[in-house]
Formats: sequence, C-alpha cells, structure tokens
Amino acid sequence: MADAPSLNHLLHPQHVDEYVATMRLGVDHLAETLRRVSRATTGVQPEQAAKLVADIDLDRPLHDAEQALVEMSRIYLDDAVWFHEPTYAAHLNCPIVIPALLAEVFVSAVNSSLDTFDQSAGGTFVERHIVDWTAERIGFGASADGIFTSGGTQSNLQALLLARDRALACHGDPSRLRILTSTDGHFSVLKAARLLGLGDGAVIGVRVNAERRMDVAELGRALADVRDNGLVPMAVVATAGTTDFGAIDPLPEIAGLCGGYDAWLHVDAAYGGGLLVSPTRRHLLDGIEHADSVTVDYHKTWFQPVSASALIVSDRSHLRHVTWHADYLNPKDPDGTGHPNQVDKSLQTTRRFDALKLWLTLRVMGPDRIGQYVDAVVDLAAEVATRLDSAIELAAPPQLSTLVFRYRPAGVTEDEADWLAPRIRSTLYERGTAMVAGTKVDGRAWLKLTLLNPLTTADDVLGILAEVIAVGDELVAAREAA
Ligand SMILES: Cc1ncc(COP(=O)(O)O)c(C=O)c1O
Repeated sequence: MADAPSLNHLLHPQHVDEYVATMRLGVDHLAETLRRVSRATTGVQPEQAAKLVADIDLDRPLHDAEQALVEMSRIYLDDAVWFHEPTYAAHLNCPIVIPALLAEVFVSAVNSSLDTFDQSAGGTFVERHIVDWTAERIGFGASADGIFTSGGTQSNLQALLLARDRALACHGDPSRLRILTSTDGHFSVLKAARLLGLGDGAVIGVRVNAERRMDVAELGRALADVRDNGLVPMAVVATAGTTDFGAIDPLPEIAGLCGGYDAWLHVDAAYGGGLLVSPTRRHLLDGIEHADSVTVDYHKTWFQPVSASALIVSDRSHLRHVTWHADYLNPKDPDGTGHPNQVDKSLQTTRRFDALKLWLTLRVMGPDRIGQYVDAVVDLAAEVATRLDSAIELAAPPQLSTLVFRYRPAGVTEDEADWLAPRIRSTLYERGTAMVAGTKVDGRAWLKLTLLNPLTTADDVLGILAEVIAVGDELVAAREAA
C-alpha cells in the first residue's frame, strides 16, 4: 500500500511552524549568499550551466529543504547574475528595494489572483488605487484606467490591440492599418503587430534625429504618406526612454500630429516611466498626458522585482476590447451591481498581485525616494560622460542612464572597432570582470552601459571602462602580434 501523503508542505494554520522554519532557512541562505557575492558574474558558460542542471534527477527528491537549498546554490545561485553589483551594467535590470521583497512574502503566500474580486477582495482595490495614482502622475483625467501586466512587452501589445480595435471599428480592413514608431523603438512593437495579425509591414520606422529622438518632420511626412496612399495611421508609438539611448521622443509635437490624423498615441515609457516620480526631471515627460495609453515598467526604473508593469489608458472605455465574460468567472453584469473584476481589463486571467510590491514600496519609502534613485542614476551617467578616457568614444551624450560607447583609441579604424566590441564584451564576461551590453548603431557594433544602480559611483563605472580599455589594448596587441 502507498504511504499516506505527507501534507505538512501545504501552507496552512497547522503548519505555521514549518512555514516559519522554512522561510527562515531561505532568508538565512540568501543573506549568507549575498554577504559573499563579490562580482556580478562568474562568467559561467551555457554548457556548464546546462550540465549542472541536467545532472539532477527530479525523480529522486531530497526530502530536505536545507539540502535542496545547497543543491540550488550549486546549480543557480553560485553562478547567478547579480544586478546590485556595481560591475553589472548590461541590461535594464535594477537592484530591488526591500519593501517590495516584504510584499513578495504576502503576494506568494496569500496567492491572491487579481482576475476577480472574489479571488482578491482588497487586492483589487490596491491595484486600482496604484493604477489611478499612476494615471494621475501621468496627468490623465478622471476617465483614466489601466491594468497591471507582466512587462513592457505585454503592455505594448495590449495598447496596440486597443488601438487596432478602435481603428477597425471605423476602417474595417486590417491590411490598411499602419503603426509608426521610431527606428529606435522597442522590438515589442513589431512583435505586437505580428501577433495582432497586422504583419511586419504594418510598422513604419520613423528616422531619429541626431539626439536619437523621433524626427517629427519625418513623422509628419510618414503620416501624410500613409493617408495619401489610402492607408490608416492606426497608432504612433512614441518612446519615452529608448532602450539603447534613453532618448525621449518629442511628446508634445507627436501628440499634435496624432490629433490631426486621429491616430492613437501610445507612449512606451517602459524605461523612462520612473521620471514620473523624479523630484527634478518630471518635465522630461511633458506631453505624456496627451497619450491614449502609456506603458510603465515598475520593474525597471521603480526598483521593483520582476514582474511589475502597467498599461494605463486615458479613457477606460477602450479597455472593453479585451473584455470577455465567462459564466463561471465574471458573468455579464448589465446593471453594474456585481463585483468589480480586473479580468475584464486584462489579457491574462489568473494574475499575480504584483501591485502590492509597489504599494508597500510607496507606503514605506514614498514616491520621492524612488524618484531620487532615478535622478541618481541619470546624474551618474552624466558624470561618467564628462570623465571619459580618450580611448572611449561615445555614440551620443547620455539622456537617461545609458552610455553607448566603443573602445576606439587613436589609430583604431571603424572596422577594427567593430571587430573589437563583441570580443571585449565576451572577454569581460568570461573573466567575471564586468557585464556590459552590446548593440548595433547604424550597422556598427557598440557597447552599452545601462546604469540603474543608485549605489554605483562614477569611479565604479570608470573602473569598468578601464577594464574595457585594458582588454581592448590586449586584443589589439594580440592581433598585431599574430
Ligand atoms: C523601451 C522598452 N519598451 C519595452 C520593453 C519591454 O519590456 P519587458 O522586458 O518588461 O517586456 C523594453 C525592455 O527593455 C524597453 O526598453
């Protein structure tokens, strides 16, 4: 006969002692790990990481949390990439604030699902309050609304879905719909067009100017072309903080053009959204209040753990395009007397209570403190840009907290710089020295620092750049010797 199942792994009032002991074990394990982490990466290669994991037989459980944590360290934590380390400067990952981690305890343990009121109760209103508060910061009026999503990609997808359905209601034929965004806009816009059945050809890339911001004159011409060709400018996606350059497109002028063409204006503020709470730089987002929808990624410039993003719309009636009534979950409620159900506004059904992380963050720290962190990283990028070695070439002055650069001392040609950039990056990674990103600018290979750590100093960043130069010099010498 099979053993009676052991039920003490289930979170339950009878198992509170087990819960507390296990969580203490976890917190202690993390604390001990954090105390000994001293670099962003060990430089682990995919084959090594894959083998460590593949060697574990999931059919042979350890039946012991402590041992499982030791094993987890071996396959994961020991080689994890740590975003709080000053030598991490690659992608848009932020160190996270402790009040948000406190919230995570409750998000996971209570496990509310934010699709319906009857699975979340007060959670529904916490999320709504955060959405309303963000909408107010944007400058939207009383008709605004929104929903938490899994990230900027999903927020952008939902925005374009709403824009598509609005356009289809007037124009019918999806093959005529066009989306205009800058050539530096995020790839999720193209992906959304594909997912929405509009095809890659539906997205028109508008040239950027010398500051890497959308060229408004070019947008004007592109919109006129669309209309003259009998097509429909369904949406313009302006970016408030492009992924590589942190450029903020000229929002007031773009909004003016959208008005003239009845085009939906979506502002992708996945990166720049943190400026909404900046005590000194909120004005950089002026014009955002004219948008029809805005993406805000709290898991980027609000120092929240993944996932935490929202799509905020200026007019809640647009959210009807994602409303679906299921008899078992959120039946149609013509009188509006039933429960408020967030699923009516969401692409997802079961959904984490991510808003609680930002809630506790705001209640413990307040918005200004978050904004000061944003200011700190923007100031950091600006300071570093003024202290560069002559071997480092900047592609453009920093606008938010990224620096697109390459190693190019006197005598190194563009082609050589192209060859060197990815090699410098991989060498720094393999040696565990630092993590920088790579990108392409006008077909050439460049490197990128994304600075999102308010604890990082200019000397830390200049230290990374000194390593870049040292590796670059080494590679040049080795190439010359070969
Ligand atoms: C401007 C911009 N929009 C959207 C996204 C996508 O966000 P997520 O990774 O949260 O899906 C990113 C990611 O870096 C981004 O930089």
